[in-house]
Amino acid sequence: MEKLYYKLNISSENAIKSNVNIGWDGGERAKINLSMSQYFEPSWISYFRHLGMKMDTGLVFYKPSNYSNNIHVDPFEGKTWLGASVNIVAHPKHRDGKWDLYPDYIDDSYMTWYDPDSVKVERKFITEDNITFDYLWADEKDAVEIQRCQMGTDIYLVNTQIPHQIITNKFPRLCFALRGTYSAKCKSWKDVVDWFGEKGLMAE
Ligand SMILES: [Fe+2]
Repeated sequence: MEKLYYKLNISSENAIKSNVNIGWDGGERAKINLSMSQYFEPSWISYFRHLGMKMDTGLVFYKPSNYSNNIHVDPFEGKTWLGASVNIVAHPKHRDGKWDLYPDYIDDSYMTWYDPDSVKVERKFITEDNITFDYLWADEKDAVEIQRCQMGTDIYLVNTQIPHQIITNKFPRLCFALRGTYSAKCKSWKDVVDWFGEKGLMAE
């Protein structure tokens, strides 16, 4: 099967505003339709735009430590194609402003993908303007893992159409998922990969 994640030539350095506190007081539901200027440094936003990137939809996902069993496929239809995402893992302190927690934090989480024939996953989609991420979880026990990616401080382009999940270990995981220009211009994973390749944004 084709590769489902690519490291991008985009630096995450000074991307997230240092004092950002999302104020997330519980739950694992994704927060959607983020305003980029709320969370990202203006200088990084302009750097991102200079690379030809534009963000139309931003989501942030939180997973507690020692978490798994969340295999799903992202919602797919509507105005914004959600078959791919540009992901940036951020320090979990940005979730709740508890700046002293996890002084030894490193990203020890994985995004893993599964053979579509080994898991039964249904997409749940409400309306174009009200995308909910109430996934119908697939059963993990028969799922055959095919690829996995640990992002660390690098920015990755990831496929969100193939069944996937997040597995956390010692640390929780806070992840910004940027859905941008490519969402409007590309209609398949190959389109997205080609688009980033043509822009010279692939690091590998
Ligand atoms: Fe997903």
